[in-house]
Amino acid sequence: MNADGLRSLVAAAMAAPSVHNVQPARWRIDGEALILLEDTTRRLTVGDPLGNDAEISLGAATEGVAIAASDAGLATQVERLGGEVAGGLRPVARLTFVEGVEPDPLLAVLQARASWRGSFVPPSPQDLAAAQALLGEDRVVVSDPVAIAAAAALYDRASYTIIRGDSFRAELRHWMRLSPRHPDWARDGLNANAMQLSGIEAVGAGAVLGPLFRPLAALGVAPALLAEAKGFTNAAAVVLFHRAADEHPFDSGRAFHRLWLEIDATGLGGNVLAALADDPASASAICTAHGIGVDRRLVSAFRIGRRDGHRFPRTRLPLAEVMLD
Ligand SMILES: Cc1cc2nc3c(=O)[nH]c(=O)nc-3n(C[C@H](O)[C@H](O)[C@H](O)COP(=O)(O)O)c2cc1C
Repeated sequence: MNADGLRSLVAAAMAAPSVHNVQPARWRIDGEALILLEDTTRRLTVGDPLGNDAEISLGAATEGVAIAASDAGLATQVERLGGEVAGGLRPVARLTFVEGVEPDPLLAVLQARASWRGSFVPPSPQDLAAAQALLGEDRVVVSDPVAIAAAAALYDRASYTIIRGDSFRAELRHWMRLSPRHPDWARDGLNANAMQLSGIEAVGAGAVLGPLFRPLAALGVAPALLAEAKGFTNAAAVVLFHRAADEHPFDSGRAFHRLWLEIDATGLGGNVLAALADDPASASAICTAHGIGVDRRLVSAFRIGRRDGHRFPRTRLPLAEVMLD
């Protein structure tokens, strides 16, 4: 594949999800191969000190390239790279392409998939059946309303445990773009549209996660203000995504992206509930409740349902910035 072809694969893969939309993937063309590097300056040093979420994001980007390459009948071979960080860049993988695959069925949703953090309309019987059809060896589909409510309560507790850390909130706010006047509103991070916040709600969220947090926490009202239980109303399911405990998060990230595309292919939408996986006590509780064994790792979870509203433009860096010379 020539350089233009490789560039178009990267462009397609930029639709991939990444933690806080930091978009850590950088790409270099090396003959007929693509070299994937991590821009380590975008690491979440508080929220992701070990680079687990960065690896998931890089794996997701790689899977995006592989799915896009299948459109041209190309199978993608991935060789993980070791190597030192140089100039803020860490070599991650080398991707080469060989003839001989059918177009991936998930191609149809690669560009359309997006986080949906808004509310859901009540699921139809077909929606519930579509959610159940996602069941598989690496995911549990929780659709009993009582079990969804229990997962929601656990999620709120897990999320609060994480968010009450001052440095975590500072880092999160650094990636939040609460007003279209923010210079990076359309480039990266989490803007108010993506978070489904109106102008006034965005101002409120900035204050609650910022200067008001400590007083509200001292009054004991911060957990209720931050609770997302409402977002679970009308959810068709909570999907628990688990992989072998010893799997590298880069490989889990490839499978994570595929699962998310499968969710969108059903016509439902959803968002990630990373706190359930990131808070060890919650991960352990929900795995026990749903029969996920100790040889498995809860990589992530999703809340899915029928979107109640319209999508918004995707926020991404320009291609020229992620393609390195
Ligand atoms: C490892 C990882 C963790 C994530 N955690 C969360 C999360 O806890 N809550 C959430 O709403 N989105 C989460 N996301 C989704 C990203 O915020 C989202 O993919 C990114 O903002 C890009 O937007 P898009 O999914 O609409 O393309 C996560 C994504 C990844 C890859």
